[in-house]
Order: sequence, then C-alpha cells, then structure tokens
Amino acid sequence: MCGIVGYIGPRQASDVLIGGLARLEYRGYDSAGIAILSSAGLDVVRRLGKLVNLSNAVSESPVPGTLGIGHTRWATHGRPSEENAHPHIDCTGRIAVVHNGIIENYLEMREELSATGHILRSETDTETIAHLVEAYYDGDLAAAVSRAIKRLDGSYALGVVHLDHPDVLVAARKDSPLIIGIGEGENVVASDIPAVLEYTREVLVLHDGEVAIVTADGVRVRTLEGADVSDPEMMHVEWDLAAAEKGGYDDFMLKEIFEQPKAIRETLRGRMCNGEIQLSELDMKPEQVAGIDRVFIIACGTSYHAGIVAKTLIEQWARIPVEVQVSSEFRYADPIVDDDTLVVAITQSGETADTLAGVREARERGAKVIAITNVVGSRVTRESDGVIYTHAGPEIGVAATKTFTAQIAALYVLALKLAQAKGTVQQERIEHLWSELSRIPDLVATILEDIDGLRECADEYIGARSSLFLGRGIGVPIAMEGALKLKEISYIHAEAYPAGEMKHGPIALITEEVPVVVVATQGHTYEKVVSNIQEVRARGAQVIAVATHGDEEIRRHAEHVLYIPATTESLSAIPATIPLQLLAYYIAKARGCNVDQPRNLAKSVTVE
Ligand code: G6P
Repeated sequence: MCGIVGYIGPRQASDVLIGGLARLEYRGYDSAGIAILSSAGLDVVRRLGKLVNLSNAVSESPVPGTLGIGHTRWATHGRPSEENAHPHIDCTGRIAVVHNGIIENYLEMREELSATGHILRSETDTETIAHLVEAYYDGDLAAAVSRAIKRLDGSYALGVVHLDHPDVLVAARKDSPLIIGIGEGENVVASDIPAVLEYTREVLVLHDGEVAIVTADGVRVRTLEGADVSDPEMMHVEWDLAAAEKGGYDDFMLKEIFEQPKAIRETLRGRMCNGEIQLSELDMKPEQVAGIDRVFIIACGTSYHAGIVAKTLIEQWARIPVEVQVSSEFRYADPIVDDDTLVVAITQSGETADTLAGVREARERGAKVIAITNVVGSRVTRESDGVIYTHAGPEIGVAATKTFTAQIAALYVLALKLAQAKGTVQQERIEHLWSELSRIPDLVATILEDIDGLRECADEYIGARSSLFLGRGIGVPIAMEGALKLKEISYIHAEAYPAGEMKHGPIALITEEVPVVVVATQGHTYEKVVSNIQEVRARGAQVIAVATHGDEEIRRHAEHVLYIPATTESLSAIPATIPLQLLAYYIAKARGCNVDQPRNLAKSVTVE
C-alpha cells in the first residue's frame, strides 16, 4: 500500500524515482507523483492512475534535478485524484512531503493550521505534515520535521525536501517501513527494498522515532530530540535485482508459482537434525512447550488460510487445541489468551496493521508470540518474541502464492516440533512424516512440469460469473485459498465451503453455469467428498476435481480432474494448492486481467 522513493546523488532524480516506484507498483496504488528540487525551484508532477501516466507527463515536460521524492498513493483520506496525490506542498511551495501511513489526528491539525492562516488544498491527512513543517521551520529542516511529527498521532514513513536545502532529504518513520539504500555518492530512500536494488544492496533500516538526514555522501540518524544515533541498523540484502524481476515469465505471479519447490525446500532446510526437529526460534525449554495448553493463530487473507491448515496439523499431531482468527477480529474480541497460550502471527509481509495490532494485544495479555514472516527485519519481527522465517525470496505478485506454501511448510515444522516436545507422536512416525515432508518440493515440481491439461480446463471457465469451492478436513482451507485466488485475480465470484455443509445453503446456487471445484484427494473423508460431488452434479454442476494420481474412479464424477502426486493426507495441503493457483492464474489471464496487480488490492496492508 503506497510506495515511497527518494533520491539524492548525481543522477537525474526523476529517472530514479519513476524506476523505483515501478518496482513498488505491486504494493497497489491509484495515483503517483514526484517532486524534484533544482536551482530552478521545486517542481511537482502528479497524475491519477497508473505510473505510466506520470512517466508520460515527465517525458513530455522533463523535470531536471538530482534531488527528489516520489510516491504511489493508495487512497485512504480523500478519493483518488491529482489534487490528493503526493507529494504535497506547504503554502510557500518550498516544502514537499511524501507520506505512507495514516495521521489519526489530522482533522484537529487541519483546523489548527487553517485557523493560523494555512491554506490546505487537498482532502488528505498528509498535507497537514507539509504545513506543520512550514510552521516549525526556522532554518533547520530536520528539527522542523521532528517538531512536526511530535504533533502527529498515527503512523508514517516520510520523505521531506525544502528549497532552502538543495542537498538534503529528510526521512522519518513510525509504524510504517522505511529504508535507505546506501550507494556510492548517492542514497536512495524507499519504503521497500526492490526500489533500491538497482543502486545498492547495503541498506540502513530506519527505526521508529528516528529521523534521517540524507545527503549524497552519507546519512545521519537522529532521535526526535536531536541526539545522534551512533549505530543505526545496517543490513545486507541477500537477494539481488534478478530475484525481484520476472526472469522470462509473463508475470511475477507465474514466476512465483514456479518458485515454490525452492521456497519450500529453503524453508525446510536444516529443520531436522539427528531425529530432532530444530526450531530454536521458539526459545522455550521442553517443559515450557509441554505447558502450552492453547495455540491461537492470527493472520489475514492467504496467511489466514495457512493458519487453518496449521490448526488441523497441531491438533492432530500435538493434541493442543488451536483457535484461528482473522487479526482484525482478534483484537476487538477480548480474546481468551494468557501466559500458557502460544500465539502464532502469520504474515508474509510482516507489516499488516491488523496482525501487528493483534500481536501487541496478545503480548499485553501475557502470551508468547511467534511470528511467521517472509520479510527480514519487518515490523512483526521486532514486535514478537520469536520469528520463524519462510525463505521464499521476494514475492512481488499481490496475490500470495509461494509465501503461502512456504508458510505451510514452516507450520508443518512447528506442528512437528510441538508434537515431539509433547510426546504425542512416536519418534518413528515423526521421522516418517519428516521424510514425506522432504519430498514435497519434488512433488510440487512434478505438478508444475505438466500443466497443459490445466490450461485447457481453465479455458472452459473463463465465462463463469460465479463458482463454488469445496473440501473436507485439510481440504477446506485449500478450497478457501483456491476461491480467494480466483476471486482476487479474475474477479469471478468464488465461495468456499466445507463440502458437507454445502447442502445447507450454497446448493441453492448450483446451476450448470456455476463450476464447482472440489478438493478430492485421498484421505479419510474421500468417500464423503465423492458423495458431495454427486449431490452437485445431480443439480447440473460442472465439477473440477483435484485428485490423487491413480484415482481413476474420480473421472466418472468430474468433468475435469487435476491430478497431484500421492502423499500422506496431512501433507497434501501444499500439493493440492498448486493446481488451484494455476487454475486461477490461467482463467484470469484468459480474461485479460492484470494478475500481478489486481484492482483495489495491495501487497502489504498497513491500515486497519
Ligand atoms: C493482502 C494481500 C494478500 C495477503 C494479505 C495478508 O490482502 O493482497 O495476498 O494474504 O494481505 O498479508 P500478510 O502480509 O499479513 O500475509
């Protein structure tokens, strides 16, 4: 959601800003703008819609200058429009500000600023920051920014420039990510790593309450009180630009689907040693683990579905009751959580506002919180007691794919660890499950080698307006994830239901026009699922079944069968996901949809 890029150095800033914003496009936005500072003045160019509108405007009327800030805005306060697009400027037109986050007391600030003669021209909360900096400015830009942000409630990542300071960019943050790529004779401020990778892999991670004074030659970090921070956090980015590019695939989403064997393998690497599941991140003595009497999982979107998979596994293997709740509900539900509860927060981005709020709530109630995330150094990693990383590499497609299956892999490890510590599964079985788990990356690779049938199947359903996804047991969250993928990238309505519950409502929707996708892999409820298939077919439905290799019988019950290799029932969640991701992908592509940036969605949802 929203992207920030700032540049100072020898290059033309507009090129760096627009190039950097393009690498953040995946985060979702509806307008874009840049402000460039030069001896000629402060030029602001903003456009509604995609970045190409901004870049065309800049090509037609270039804005020279080597210092600038840029932004892609996902509207919160005020509709998407050119007036509301960032950067925002003060009354004098000498200060420009870009901002990610939300200023909660902006109405109060607007009134105060208007009463003292400031003219605000947009509907945004951000514009108040430009005017506050103007009000506090007395020659020291960083001090004015510090004073301004002390007045703000809410979250922000900021980039600020002032015409009086043609060699300085001021950046600050609270509850919204901001990093500074440290180059040679140039520095790039950004809200996410892909925007700086063209210039450097050395990154300064700004913390809450820190203000950075960025010049071409260096960065000084201060506290809001003006004290120097002598040891700001530095990080070397392990992946390079190639990892953040499409690498020959049509879209990031397809590339990321194909990267799943590697993502799962990397996530499982090193987790078994001499028969012991390795999970030092839990940082608990065996007796403490044995004392866990409840697990609470909080997450949003796709990560929530990984949480439901985990519920089945942890309850089955470790015999600990597990509750799974969407983060936005958890926080306000007065949850029953105490110091014997393990809370697991799953978030690929590590920045989802609702999940972060849930983490704080859980810790306040005394629970130990373990985060599962894909982003090193993200906010959830600072706020939790322990972190299990998924090693999926950067995920650019808005709709999560490889981070989902990597999350499930990490959750398999957690569930096995709990079972081993509690002694609820015999060692021999643990080792058998582990060897089966280690095969999963290869099974996924096998599915990805043979997808022609899947494309043909997808072609038949591109005209559908509505669809139903069914499953039982571990197939329920997989059906939910399949439905979410289809609706978010193809805009076909998709609803998921436990197959046995379908006759209590959704069956009324069944017609020949409503395809029904059924997770019908081998397992203890297989026969029941087949009966449910017969119920929908009797009402004219076309059935697409995800089934296990060797199951020829299922062909009699379904128009299309998408086969996956056989594995233990509880480990089938990952392979069963793959055909559903691809089905959604090919249907969306055939409908001409932008699969990487579906409308209205954002990769990292930093507002509640
Ligand atoms: C957004 C993304 C989804 C993601 C969800 C939760 O809605 O579009 O793909 O599943 O956020 O994100 P998180 O980073 O917390 O996993």
